[in-house]
Amino acid sequence: MMWPDNCASAAARQRMAAALTGGRVSEWTEAFAAIPRHVFVARFFQQDSTGAWQSLMWGDPGYLESVYSDEALTTQLDDHGVPTSSSSQPSVMLRMLEALDAEEGHQVLELGTGTGYNAALLSHRVGDKAVTSVDVDYGLVKAAGVHLGAVGLRPFVACTDGAQGWPDRAPYDRVIATVGLHSIPGPVLDQAAPGAVIVVPLGYGIVRVTVTDAGSASGRFLPTPAYFMARRSNGAAPRFDEAAQQQPTDTSVPPADLLDRLKFPASLALPGYVTCSWKDTDGNLESVGLWTPDGATATAHVSGAVRQCGPQRLWDTVEDLAKSFTGTPDLEDFHLTITPTGQVVSYRADGGPSWALPATP
Ligand SMILES: C[S@@+](CC[C@H](N)C(=O)[O-])C[C@H]1O[C@@H](n2cnc3c(N)ncnc32)[C@H](O)[C@@H]1O
Repeated sequence: MMWPDNCASAAARQRMAAALTGGRVSEWTEAFAAIPRHVFVARFFQQDSTGAWQSLMWGDPGYLESVYSDEALTTQLDDHGVPTSSSSQPSVMLRMLEALDAEEGHQVLELGTGTGYNAALLSHRVGDKAVTSVDVDYGLVKAAGVHLGAVGLRPFVACTDGAQGWPDRAPYDRVIATVGLHSIPGPVLDQAAPGAVIVVPLGYGIVRVTVTDAGSASGRFLPTPAYFMARRSNGAAPRFDEAAQQQPTDTSVPPADLLDRLKFPASLALPGYVTCSWKDTDGNLESVGLWTPDGATATAHVSGAVRQCGPQRLWDTVEDLAKSFTGTPDLEDFHLTITPTGQVVSYRADGGPSWALPATP
């Protein structure tokens, strides 16, 4: 397959690579400079001021500028206009790749092939024969394989639920996920070699752990927050009508705290939670809604009125978090410990709050 390229795209690629590493010498500068992101993101979607999605392709005004800027780009929408795949923000990709510390000779597993761009960067660094990349979406895997082939790379790509890993090519020295998880899936841990490094998005953070023994690993969260498209699974819809019928209780926690300083700890305490917000005509926050995959739902109004329904009282958990953290906690102060009996995130030293992560189904 031929792909379009010209002086403008080649120069834009070099500029992005240099800007990402800020002049710092990194083994990844060369990879970002060499791999043409536009081949993998041949089309992306942008919302206009009315919220409608517009698609941009090679030749469209602004296409190249966006592809070679530090933006996450939505590359696939479902029938309802909900994004189902994207090319992640390059600076976040770089941070994760640096944390992965992959080098030639390492066998690397990626969960979430998407466009194949990250698989191409990994292939450039460690050799394409050493890269295995899986995605749950067959159409994406097919397209990624074509685009990888077009730039001369042939990593192993396959369609499966990333939670299963890919046992046939195990053991892996490095595992990277570019899809949001609630915990590190057991099969993926089993397929990691002793000493392997695993870098995955967990909630609103990214954790880096080193595997010690079979089924055991530990490590810290990276300092910067990030949010990745969640692993596809069926969660319940929010029950706002039912919540609205509940007797209100009072809270002293401002609803905005959930959207800001408590966002990351809430993603550990309430795995898979989703929020939405309602604003008045001047754009001021009126209330926040949140729900979890089990259908529990809560709303909190700026007046302090809270309504909750479903199998757990979500705002009670938010209040507990507000007591534990007076300001915005530092992500690096969170540590993940994995043993054969479970996965626990703890904050700072002994005695700080901790959360048992749910096993990945
Ligand atoms: C942010 S995109 C990945 C970006 C990709 N690494 C790239 O370079 O373009 C997240 C991807 O995770 C995939 N995904 C969602 N659920 C998954 C699952 N259960 N197993 C594997 N992949 C999944 C989506 O299909 C989507 O392509």
